[in-house]
Amino acid sequence: MAADRLDGRAVSDAIAARVATRLLELPTAPKLVFVRVGEDPASVYYVRSKQRLAERVGLRAETRVLADDTDQAALEAMVRELNDDDDVDGILVQLPLPDHLDERPVLEAIDPDKDVDGFHPVNVGRLWSGLDGLVPCTPLGLIAILDHYEISLHGARVVIVGRSNLVGKPVAALCLRRHATVTLAHSRTRDLAGVVREADVVIAAVGRAGIVTADMVRTGATVLDVGMTRVDGKIVGDVAPDVWDVAGALTPMPGGTGLATVAMVIQNTLTAAEKRRGWA
Ligand code: GUN
Repeated sequence: MAADRLDGRAVSDAIAARVATRLLELPTAPKLVFVRVGEDPASVYYVRSKQRLAERVGLRAETRVLADDTDQAALEAMVRELNDDDDVDGILVQLPLPDHLDERPVLEAIDPDKDVDGFHPVNVGRLWSGLDGLVPCTPLGLIAILDHYEISLHGARVVIVGRSNLVGKPVAALCLRRHATVTLAHSRTRDLAGVVREADVVIAAVGRAGIVTADMVRTGATVLDVGMTRVDGKIVGDVAPDVWDVAGALTPMPGGTGLATVAMVIQNTLTAAEKRRGWA
């Protein structure tokens, strides 16, 4: 048996079409500004793909590039300038920042209502309190994939491997909201294989190539692969190839969760603009 392929491109196209349709009804196109510090090749690539999709659906999007040796004060000053600019609806500071910069105060400087990454503590608090707010894009994309393929979380056992602020913790909150029973496992979890084997839905978000193997996955389970590691020049996920033989459905890498993440950046920009400008 080979698992069904959960196609991130199909999910991204569906979201892009929905956002594009809604934008036609708005008096102005919302504006999204990316801030990138330095020339890290992965960051250059990701920001470019997000900006391209934003422009394709009809958002206004621009990228501010700061030099690799930019200091903390200059970066935070740029964030504050974007906060104060009433024409800007969404701000995204691409991570990781160069080592000499402290990412926490930068993320906390972003106006929570323009925080399309959903990393600001105010948005984290809103998410865990069940309040409206901006939610991180990768977790939203994972839920969008499940919704697109009509995979229900109601009463399901979800095991998340990885407890990061970017993915593991926020997707746990979203799964709880959908009435799943959630286990947040990680590299120190005792009998990780046994825990993962309980899952109807496995979310692998550790960033360690092939950490989830076929013997850890219950036959027919849904598996979402968020990890991305470069091995011998190839991008590989957290899910080993032999999982295709046991899972019921699986996201490919590439072509899976990353594409859904990018689509959620544009959806979050629309959400932010609708709320801030009173269009909701
Ligand atoms: N770098 C890797 N993933 C992300 C993300 O979701 N947001 C930002 N800003 N940077 C990232």
